[in-house]
Amino acid sequence: MAEMDLTDLRPGNALRIENPALIPAARYYDEEFYRLECERLWPKAWQMACRLEQIPNVGDWIEYSNVGKSVIVVRTKDGVKAHQNHCRHRGVPIAGGEGNAEGASAHGNCAKSGFICPFHGWRWNMEGECTFVYGRHLFDEELLQKDELALRPVRVETWGGCAFINHDAEAPSLRESLGPVLDRLEAHGMSKLRSEWWFATVLPANWKVAMEAFMEGYHVMKTHPQLQHAQPSLYNARYGNETGGLGSLLNPNLTVRQNVCEALDSMELLSEGMAGLVHGKEVEIARSLAEAELPKDPQTGMMAWYGLVCQAITEKLRERGEDVPDLVQVMQEHPVEAVEFLFPHYFLLTYFTSMSSYRVRPLGPETCLFEIWSLTHYPEGEEPEPLREPTMLPFDSRDFPMIPRQDYSNIPIQQKGLHSEGLDVLRLSREREGLISNYQRLIDAYIAGEPGARLAAANRMLGGNFDGPILDLGLECGSS
Ligand code: FES
Repeated sequence: MAEMDLTDLRPGNALRIENPALIPAARYYDEEFYRLECERLWPKAWQMACRLEQIPNVGDWIEYSNVGKSVIVVRTKDGVKAHQNHCRHRGVPIAGGEGNAEGASAHGNCAKSGFICPFHGWRWNMEGECTFVYGRHLFDEELLQKDELALRPVRVETWGGCAFINHDAEAPSLRESLGPVLDRLEAHGMSKLRSEWWFATVLPANWKVAMEAFMEGYHVMKTHPQLQHAQPSLYNARYGNETGGLGSLLNPNLTVRQNVCEALDSMELLSEGMAGLVHGKEVEIARSLAEAELPKDPQTGMMAWYGLVCQAITEKLRERGEDVPDLVQVMQEHPVEAVEFLFPHYFLLTYFTSMSSYRVRPLGPETCLFEIWSLTHYPEGEEPEPLREPTMLPFDSRDFPMIPRQDYSNIPIQQKGLHSEGLDVLRLSREREGLISNYQRLIDAYIAGEPGARLAAANRMLGGNFDGPILDLGLECGSS
């Protein structure tokens, strides 16, 4: 696409969203737009840099790279810190430095040796202080000032068992940027979860295509037909023409017992298909309640059954020594969406006490790195060895659980289709695919340089908007 001024995404710009339900297709491959995202979005947004279990000991560090910026996240005696990953002498990365191509993610421990530049051997400790300059006398004194030699700090905040970084010193805090979604997820025990497995793949698609594949449940009928077949009442009520109430968990034409069977089959398929989102241990507990005494009315009966399941999961897992939340209480006080997004590139799938977490990083306009962690609770002292890096798989690998494999089958072909002659815009459902539009328009606001407080306010509105409507985000740029 010819070069154009995207600074204010002014009318006439082919990439501008004129109607919030119509997203220009070129936004998913245009190199200039990608460049602007790299320059104006990523350096100002909070990015999930690592899980804290990747750096459990003092001195443990991990390199986090995205869009050409490499950061060292390190656990120090005083907590987690982050430094720009460059030598103060002549710029060589002092840790890893291979970037995130193909998912490479360097890590190590610097407690004894510190960070040593591979070029001329200058050194830094974990706090970022320079501890050694080879041939000091060769340099002007002013170049050797302590502050000059210290690694450049990067803002870092920890929450939910993760470290988040932000390159922008002026950006609102993580909490101000994301808001109540943090409380909801924390109430569900997010920070106590540990990784059961961690897979990564390179997808031949723009990072937004990959993210947007998870922003609605409207794709379930065709992409995950097994889920729709197991619990048709849920999906038909939500997306089809059948009545039964929005998001109904029951089929009013079936008995309570038959509804329970549907729900159990659905949980089992989710458990197998995601290898952990609904954990096998939770399905087993729910199955033990298949014959529980329930009110005959389907609605009351199913509500009672879900209550019993939540109570039993809480009690049984606590008996095993797992520090899980009181599900009955948190489901009422802090209900979560099936998918919770933390703009721009991290989201979590929730059900009972386990979660799946996803992170997407662009590797170019039409390639991205896609990671999935399966997270669950463990009894204290029985936690598995922390995973320091993902298992890389081809995106069509059968080692991926069935549900992400089904999602991956769409993502690369959608990217190809976006280039088709005559496809000018993507057409969104205003009620069900609004999150896609909301995300895209928030990206535009970053590109346009809107004030941080306004970006944060809009960002907070994205939380809990899975399967939700197009919102007026209160932004100046673009259409609302
Ligand atoms: Fe690092 Fe010279 S570039 S010590």
